[in-house]
Amino acid sequence: MTDIGRREFLARTVVPSSVLAIGAVPASALARSLTRGRSLLADSHVDVLIGEPIATIAPEIYGHFVEHLGGVVYDGIWVGEQSKIPNVGGIRKALIDALRPLRPAVVRWPGGCFADAYDWRDGVGPREKRPRRTNVWADDERLRALGNIPARFEPNSFGTNEFMRFVRAVGAQPYFGANLRTQPASVFHQWVEYCNSPVGSTTLAELRAQGGDPEPFGVRYWGVGNESWGCGGNFTPDEYAAEYRRFSTWAVQEHGVPLHFIGAGPSGGDYEWTRRFFDQVNRRGDLGRMWGWALHHYCSAPNGEAVAFDNTAWYELLASADKMESLITGHWQVMREADRDHHVKLVVDEWGAWHKQTTNVDPSHLFGQQSTVRDALVAGLTLDTFNRHADKVAMANVAQLVNTIQSLFLAHDEQFLVTPTYHVFAMYTPHQGGQSLRTLISAPRLAYTDSEKKERTLWGMAGSASRKDGVVTLTLTNPHLTQPRDTEIVLRGGSVRSISAMTLSHTDVHAHNTFDAPRTVTPETTAVPTVGNAIVHRLPPASVTRLQFVLGA
Ligand code: AHR
Repeated sequence: MTDIGRREFLARTVVPSSVLAIGAVPASALARSLTRGRSLLADSHVDVLIGEPIATIAPEIYGHFVEHLGGVVYDGIWVGEQSKIPNVGGIRKALIDALRPLRPAVVRWPGGCFADAYDWRDGVGPREKRPRRTNVWADDERLRALGNIPARFEPNSFGTNEFMRFVRAVGAQPYFGANLRTQPASVFHQWVEYCNSPVGSTTLAELRAQGGDPEPFGVRYWGVGNESWGCGGNFTPDEYAAEYRRFSTWAVQEHGVPLHFIGAGPSGGDYEWTRRFFDQVNRRGDLGRMWGWALHHYCSAPNGEAVAFDNTAWYELLASADKMESLITGHWQVMREADRDHHVKLVVDEWGAWHKQTTNVDPSHLFGQQSTVRDALVAGLTLDTFNRHADKVAMANVAQLVNTIQSLFLAHDEQFLVTPTYHVFAMYTPHQGGQSLRTLISAPRLAYTDSEKKERTLWGMAGSASRKDGVVTLTLTNPHLTQPRDTEIVLRGGSVRSISAMTLSHTDVHAHNTFDAPRTVTPETTAVPTVGNAIVHRLPPASVTRLQFVLGA
């Protein structure tokens, strides 16, 4: 992404913005304006270089995260087979119906911090005989007053077979997180055996069959601990490297499934954690069995409000989310010191905007928050970042699927809604499996004063492009609270047959969907006339836009 200077920007904005309607400019005006190779109608420019692919965008980048935390599993996903809430084998039907069209490639489970306290054996076998256990989040002061609810005392009604039922219903692959903090490696290895050993081969395969699944689950992705620098054991990188080796080398039988181990990576920008772990594991030649290195990044704004944020907090949250770019490139560079060929890829298995718990969600929904237009922009710019780094990021999992942090869904009893973040995921679905294309974006950088009264600037437009099945998909976010961006978009290296556009925005950036008004924030499609390979398209203030270009022969 490049930025143009102020003088150049002023020289370009010679046409008042009122000339343009929302959407595309009339073809005649565009033709007149496209003089000297650049449109005078535009204040911003995007060049999509069709001949410069970066890498295939792994569909797993559009992954999700489910933890036994607050209202994610109980109330969010699992309502039980006897519930009056429409369900498929105990799983909320509305959730399955809404999630499936997003083609979620992968869902991570059962945590998070919960994973490092979870015994998978509690969640298998006859449901009525499963033990109730204290959830790792039970002592959170917001939950303590609420009694013996599932968010505090885990009933284990939703275990391995139920989770597999869920991921199969939505067409995703499972990504399991092993308990490295409180259990020996043998318990992890037995979980792999429970999931993947052939029909009738072992006692655990028979137990799986008694749970309704004689055929192996074929679980490929295994996280070896979680946040092992924190809730996953307070390890040093050297200690964690030794534990990682114990869990992942020699003893694990594959049962014909190529196991993809994911190491518990750093907290944000802790590059020493990455450097020392890679150095330790590489010394013993054990990097070869590692597939992914987990990175977590939650963005936040100082006042923490999910809905009642001011203009400063709007820009501060986007700037905080934008750190994802430097975290990816920074850790990638450090990983290369030991892993010259980049055999190990990045797995951003927790990301999202984390605000204060909103008062209008059910109190049992720990870390429950509303998702506004601002969160939609966080989703757009983060997914664009992953797309641009498709050569580095092999998987990402937004935290979390339902009722917690930046969720795609809110659900309580029979009520259910999709958030603005959901709509961004839906708009970005065509990127999955596409070839990420090098894209040059120039837009006037915007200036704001942060909450400490410091003058700051932020990118004026961000985005990514990909090509799949003869269609180029371009997604763009305009972070400016009041100014639209009239953007000249040029596809270089291909001819365009037709164009369609879809935009998510709202006149009130605090707008969000509620159970009473679930369609307050929804995307709208716009007609775009086709005039060769260049258009000028208006991006409304505070918006996420998707443009799709059907290529000619
Ligand atoms: O997503 C909530 C928590 O945030 C996860 O359990 C933990 O991994 C992270 O700190």
